[in-house]
This record gives sequence, C-alpha cells and structure tokens, in this order.
Amino acid sequence: MKRPHVMFTGTGRAVPKRIMTNHDFAAIGIETDDAWIVDRTGIRQRHVAGPGESLTSLAAEASKTAMAAAGVNAAEIDAIVMATVSPDHLLPAAAVEVQAAIGASRAAAFDVDAACTGWIYAVVVAEGLIATGNAETVLVIGGEVLTRIVNWKDRNTCVLFGDGVGATIVKRATKGKGLLSSYLRTDGTLAKLLWRPAGGGEMAASDATIADGSFWVHMQGREVFKHAVRSMADACERALDGAKLSADSVDLVIPHQANVRIIEATAKHANISMDKVYVNVDRYGNTSAGSIPIALDECIRSGRITDGSTVMFVGFGAGFTWGSLIVRF
Ligand SMILES: CC(C)(COP(=O)(O)OP(=O)(O)OC[C@H]1O[C@@H](n2cnc3c(N)ncnc32)[C@H](O)[C@@H]1OP(=O)(O)O)[C@@H](O)C(=O)NCCC(=O)NCCS
Repeated sequence: MKRPHVMFTGTGRAVPKRIMTNHDFAAIGIETDDAWIVDRTGIRQRHVAGPGESLTSLAAEASKTAMAAAGVNAAEIDAIVMATVSPDHLLPAAAVEVQAAIGASRAAAFDVDAACTGWIYAVVVAEGLIATGNAETVLVIGGEVLTRIVNWKDRNTCVLFGDGVGATIVKRATKGKGLLSSYLRTDGTLAKLLWRPAGGGEMAASDATIADGSFWVHMQGREVFKHAVRSMADACERALDGAKLSADSVDLVIPHQANVRIIEATAKHANISMDKVYVNVDRYGNTSAGSIPIALDECIRSGRITDGSTVMFVGFGAGFTWGSLIVRF
C-alpha cells in the first residue's frame, strides 16, 4: 500500500503553570548559572509540575485541545497511543489514565516507550493501526513530567529537563496529505549512557537507591551529545530518501528539543539552514516525548505550518532510539 495512509487533523499542548528560570536554581542550592546553561544548552526556563498537576492532567488538557481542533469527540477515538518515560504510575499504562480522564470509552489505550523519540514511534504505530483497519481515529500523545524523575541534586541533569505534553489526532489520509516517510532505529548497546539504574524489577526503589541517586536519571552528557548529532543527521537523510525529497523541498524541520547546540550541529551535518529549523528549547527545556508535539502545536497555531507545508520531524533519545518523519500538511 502506498503512503500516505494517515494525516494529522488536530493538535494541542499543555504545560504546568509554574515557570522555573535558570536563575531559580540558586534558591535550591544548585551551583550553576544562567550563562553556563544558556551557553551550553540554549535553555532559559522550563515548566515544572506543581501540586495538583500530573502527566495525566496535562495529557488530558492537551488531548481535549487537539480533539477540539480536529472536531473529534471522545467516543470517536479508537486508540490512544501515549509516548512517555515518566508515567504517573508504573502500572497500568499512562494512556489508560488519559482514556479515563477524557472519557474515550471505546478506545484501546497503551504506552510506547522510546524516550525522547517516543512521539515519532507512536505516530508510526498509529499509522499501522489505521492502515490495517484496526482504527480510524487515533489520539497520539507525547509528554512527560521529567522533573519528578530527575535528581534535583545533580546539576549535570536537573537543569536540562522540563515538563509538558503535546497531543495529535491522527486520521486516515485524504488528498495525498499526511505521513510520506518514516525511519526508526535503536541501539540498545548504548542504553547505560542515559538511564535510570534503579526503580525497575532488577533493583527496586528503596531508601538506598534514592539516597545513592540510582533511582533518578543518569546521563553521560558528552557521549549523548555526540550520538545525538550523528543519529539525527542520519535520520534526516533517511526520511528524505524515503520520501524521495531533497532537503531544499522541506519547508520546516521540527527536531527534538534537547539542546540548541545539538540542533544546530544536526542542521549543519544535514545541510539544512537554521532558518528552516524550529527551536523552542529556550522556553521549555527538554520535555522528552513532549518536545516535538508541543513544537508542532506551536507551529500550527502560529501559522508557521500552513496548508501544503512539508515538515520533517527528527528525534533522538534514551535507548538510544532515534527516528524521523516527513509529513505534508
Ligand atoms: C550536558 C551538557 C550540556 C554538558 O556540557 P559539556 O560541555 O559536555 O560539559 P561537561 O559535561 O564536559 O562538563 C564540563 C564542566 O561543567 C560542569 N557542569 C555540569 N553541569 C553544570 C551546570 N549545570 N552548571 C555549571 N557547571 C556544570 C561539570 O561538572 C564539568 O566541570 P568539571 O570540568 O569541573 O568536571 C552537554 O554534554 C549536553 O548537552 N549533552 C547532551 C545532553 C542531552 O541533551 N541529553 C538528552 C538527550 S535526549
């Protein structure tokens, strides 16, 4: 069957109310400064979930906005595919909680864990559900409350991440619009460069694993940086090949928002001008699976994406996982 099978018909986003700037780290005893963080990452602020805010509440809010934009009601949703590594509970899936929260009574609901590449993986799963006749309307969600799983005593990681969710309604393609190509890859031999050593079945959460920090996210930043650039540049090339397009014919690139230096280096390797690359990491930090669908929603609502736009999405994350999509709007 020839692509496109699916297209996006509505998007939404939600972030916590509280904004934490780089200057606010001093108040919690983290030895860092705004200049260091901006210079190394481009991040100026991030949203941090507070009391009463959760992954489920943010995902429900983003989903309702996406449903309204698509003109879809909860009973029409056949499946919810949710990309996250920071669920409110480890059992059952985060998508299940969203299903209950929005009243999508007919929907199958499950999670996809591909870390920061999660939304890209989830879109391809949604395409499969629709192309095989298992669903007509899929709610794809990517989002995190990462600030609840980072070590707030570790300046190597806690300054990088933020909370937020993006939601996308995926439906059967019409008029040749939609997902033209995709590329998904994983290298599990590198898993320990970005992971949570404890908290799972092998080493349970305990006072000891919390005290020694193994319960929280661990990262070897330099290694991650290197692999991210190489993999995202490769993924751009593969998605373009898959769609038989040149970089010139892409109107906009929405990369995973981890670090502006990673984004700039990727664009350079992929021969894409930064004028065509969307960046919002300064305002949100790295929201992992939330970063691309949040950026997509901003681009649609601000008019950066219009009818006929060709957009490339590219992501990289823990696993390592990486991947890309090309979508015609
Ligand atoms: C994390 C990152 C910004 C660090 O930048 P870097 O140039 O590689 O810096 P290094 O890790 O070599 O650390 C340099 C120094 O800065 C210090 N440092 C680390 N975090 C700091 C902070 N928040 N504030 C001030 N200094 C900090 C380190 O302790 C180190 O000090 P030392 O030389 O005295 O040991 C960078 O490696 C990066 O962005 N990596 C990718 C991370 C990422 O995006 N992950 C998610 C991918 S999905």
